[in-house]
Parts: sequence; C-alpha cells; structure tokens
Amino acid sequence: MATVADLDLPSLNYLDPALSGTRFHDTLRELRERSWVARAEPFGFFVLDREATAFFLRTPAATFPGRTMLEIHGVTSGPLYERMTGNLLDRGGEEHRRLRRLIQPAFTPKAADAYRPAMREQLAALFTPLAGTGRCEAVADLAKPYPARMIATVMGAPLDDAPLLQEWANTIQRQFDPEALTNDLPALERAAVDFQAYARDLIAKRAGNLIGELLEAGLSEDETLDVVSSVLVGGVDTTQSQLAHGLRLFAEHPDQWALLAEEPELVPGAVEEILRFEPIAPFTARITLEEVAFRDIVFPASTLVFACAQTANRDPDEYAGAEAFDIRAERGKAKPLTFGAGPHFCLGANLARAELDEALRFLAPRMPGFALDGEPEYDTPLGLYGMKRLLVRWRASA
Ligand code: HEM
Repeated sequence: MATVADLDLPSLNYLDPALSGTRFHDTLRELRERSWVARAEPFGFFVLDREATAFFLRTPAATFPGRTMLEIHGVTSGPLYERMTGNLLDRGGEEHRRLRRLIQPAFTPKAADAYRPAMREQLAALFTPLAGTGRCEAVADLAKPYPARMIATVMGAPLDDAPLLQEWANTIQRQFDPEALTNDLPALERAAVDFQAYARDLIAKRAGNLIGELLEAGLSEDETLDVVSSVLVGGVDTTQSQLAHGLRLFAEHPDQWALLAEEPELVPGAVEEILRFEPIAPFTARITLEEVAFRDIVFPASTLVFACAQTANRDPDEYAGAEAFDIRAERGKAKPLTFGAGPHFCLGANLARAELDEALRFLAPRMPGFALDGEPEYDTPLGLYGMKRLLVRWRASA
C-alpha cells in the first residue's frame, strides 16, 4: 500500500488569497476532476469526493485539530486553551457521546421550531427600517445581526448584548486561524476570559430555556459552560455566513427569488440547496490519531486531512446537475455534508435550518426585484467562508 506523501498528486495552496468566489469553485472543480485526493499546501491533504469526505469526518481514528493548532502556536494553557479543551469538537469517545446524548433533546427540530416566533420578530425588527429604502448592505444589515440575536435568545442573554456576543464569537472563532494565533493572541484570550465570566453569570441565574434544560439534564455547571461556549462559537458566524451566501445566490438568480415569494412551499428545498451549493465550512480539518488506510492509501498518524464539503456536495455521482444552483432540482437521497457527518455532526443544524427557513420566508415576499447592487465582496474560504459585503437592491413599496 502506498503512503499518501509518496504519491504524485495534484496540489493546491489553500492560503492563496485569490482563492474565492468563482475562482474558488473553478479551482476546486478542476482539482476534483483530476483526483479524489490532493496535496494541500503548505500542509496536509484534501479529500474531495463525497465518500472519502464522509469517511474522514466519521472515523474515530482522526480528530478535530483545534487543540493541536493551539499547541503548535505555543498555547498550552490559559483561557483559550481551556475553552478549546471544553469545546464539544475537542471531546471524543464515550465522554463526548454521553454529553451529546444529554444535550440532544435541547436541539431537536421541535426545540428549534419553538424559536421561530422570536426569529420572525428579529427579522421584522431588522427589516422594518430598511423596507422603504430599497437598498442595503445585506451582511451588516441582515445576515450579521440576525444569528447573534437568536443565539442571545437561546442563551437567555438580553438582546441588547447581542453585539457583544457577536464580537466575542467572531474573535474566539479566530482561534482556528493560524495568523490570528500568531498576531492576535492577547485579544483572543481576553475574549475567552470575558465571555467565560459573562456565561458563568447567565448559568448562575439559570437564564433562558437552554441553560435550564442542560442543568436539568444532569450537566454540571462546568459542562453547561462548555456547551454554551460551543453554541456561541458554533452558532453565530456560521449562520451569518450561510445566510449571506444564500442572499448572494438569490441576488444572482432573481427568477428563483421571485418563485420563492410566490411558492413558499419551496423554502425548505431552497435552504437545502443553499447549504449544498455553498457550504460555509468548505474544508473541515481532521488530524489522524493513528495510521489510517483508505482505498489502499496509507495516511500515517498526525496527517492533516481537509474533508472537502464543497466538492463532496457537488459530487457528480451523487447529484445530477451538481454545478448549478437550482432550488427546484430533485437532489436524491444524499444529504449535503455542510453540517459534517458522524459523531460531531452539527449540534445546531436544526436551529440553523429554521433560521435560514424563516429568513427566506420573511424576506422573499418583501424584497421583490431583489438583485445585486454592486460587486459582492467575498471573504477567504479558509476556516469559515463568509461574505464581507453584499450590496443589494429591491423595489421598495411606497
Ligand atoms: C448554517 C449554519 C451552520 C453550519 C454550516 C455549521 C457547520 C458545522 C460543521 C461542519 C460542524 C462539524 C465540524 C467538525 O466535524 O469538525 C459543526 C459542529 C457544531 N456546530 Fe454547527 N454549523 C452551523 C450552525 C450552528 C449553530 C446555529 C449552532 C448552535 C447551536 C452550531 C453548533 C455546533 C456545535 C456545538 C458543533 C460541535 C458538535 C460536536 O462536536 O459534537 N452550529 N457545525
């Protein structure tokens, strides 16, 4: 059996700043057409088809490399390291399974549906001041504040604190970014300390349904803090980026937006198509804990592997017409890998789907003639792939 490092593979530098927007998609498609496995420069390997991506997401022989990243940057103690070791993504085995079993009831589709009235309320509060203007910057005006307000609601924090939570989430999320770890460590650690003190106070007050449910399910206060931190870090930038890309996709496909306004029953399919077409975690990182053999190739212990949801979700063997964004297409049984797979499958998937669903239902009929009002500005796809700016316009009602 060949070792992956000895193979003659195509390669892609994932730090290339030009890699975003159409160029990003084209480059990844070409790479996938050449090979299901490729070299990821400067370190690691990409796996690119759906089966290989799902395999590396699921295997217990590999783990999320968040803690390794901190250790490589010399962070082996302190508040950031403590938050990372408490993070659900960092836990494994029976300990992780036990915690997931206890917290799952707070994240069912029914539990997410209970927040739908609050979602509509927040969408109305954000959209009302924009309604008559007919144009906005959809990232700052809609996509960014909405999930932060929802996470504040879920955590039982005052809505006025949503911008503060958003700031912490954005900052702590950067613990996965090597450049931030090198240049901005004090700011990251300060955010971890401040958020921890804030969350402990909410837990002491048993603020909100989620904290109450977690404590009643038998979690200790420390475990509750770990889950609440995971929800903050996992639940803000993600939904924000997914909604921003979703709005951008519809601004580029105005006929599908018009259809959505006329036929709201298309909304759940539209949410799935946004998730499939533009997964905001296009590369989910894993590090092998031991030697792993897959398709007659050996991945030695400590190999960094990027499981690529972006190409997996466009696997031509799974999805007909995979390269087109089409909310009416029959996509078959394969679910997109946008929320991961296996034991760490996104805890907030139902909440995120409900948030996206409510946003489309609310906005589509209120923004007729929705279109781009300038060139969209993309973020880089390493880590979370968001939009920096999205100028849009629509026909404002008199
Ligand atoms: C569209 C929005 C979202 C996307 C695309 C997304 C994506 C993901 C992905 C890919 C993973 C797996 C990571 C891995 O295996 O390494 C994950 C895990 C996770 N997500 Fe999400 N997420 C979203 C929204 C949310 C929300 C709203 C929450 C808040 C409840 C959340 C909380 C979490 C948590 C706590 C985990 C870790 C689960 C575990 O390790 O057991 N996510 N998410």
